[in-house]
Amino acid sequence: MDALQQKKLSAQAAMKYVVDGSVVGVGTGSTVNEFIPLLGQRKHDIEGAVASSEASAALLKQHGIRVLELNNTGDLPLYVDGADECDPHFRLIKGGGAALTREKIIAAASKKFVCLIDHSKRVDLLGSFPLPIEVIPMARSFVARQIAARGGHPAWRQGVVTDNGNAIIDVHGLRILHPEEMERDLNQIPGVVTVGLFALRRADVVIAAGEVLTRV
Ligand code: A5P
Repeated sequence: MDALQQKKLSAQAAMKYVVDGSVVGVGTGSTVNEFIPLLGQRKHDIEGAVASSEASAALLKQHGIRVLELNNTGDLPLYVDGADECDPHFRLIKGGGAALTREKIIAAASKKFVCLIDHSKRVDLLGSFPLPIEVIPMARSFVARQIAARGGHPAWRQGVVTDNGNAIIDVHGLRILHPEEMERDLNQIPGVVTVGLFALRRADVVIAAGEVLTRV
């Protein structure tokens, strides 16, 4: 089964977590793009959605779903998003689509984080996918040097400006043995806005090709 088909199956399986009358947190990326049209079919049952990117907000509106601001909704019962890598403990690398900051905020503000993947995203050890970090533009070189000093190979994602007006550095060559520790460490470098490691707030449910996985 190809990756797109697997993403579609995961999106379908996520629909059973959507509660009538609620506001749904909606992430970003090609997998979530399969979920949004399905959510659109239930647009009259839900109050609306909070989007993790301008791109997802536009797609939600296109499907007739009311887009709400997190500032006006309070915490959410459900957040649905994809991932670039997922380990057996449901710790993730995210940010391939540069939406990691708003994704991390909505994940933190949500009771349940349901992560939709295809099997290619499953890894034993995080780090083969370059770790995205959102940085304040004037701190880009400084943060890159800090990362190099820690043994990572930073690459500026040239031409990409996040929805928040910031830059993205992708860190290559990491073997992430202690994700929570690394997340804490990188978070405190001045100029770092968000690290694309979702370990401190990991997924609660992971669905791969429609199958609900069991966490180790
Ligand atoms: C967006 O910044 C990312 O975190 C995405 O959630 C992640 O890259 C998954 O994207 P796909 O569903 O397109 O693989």
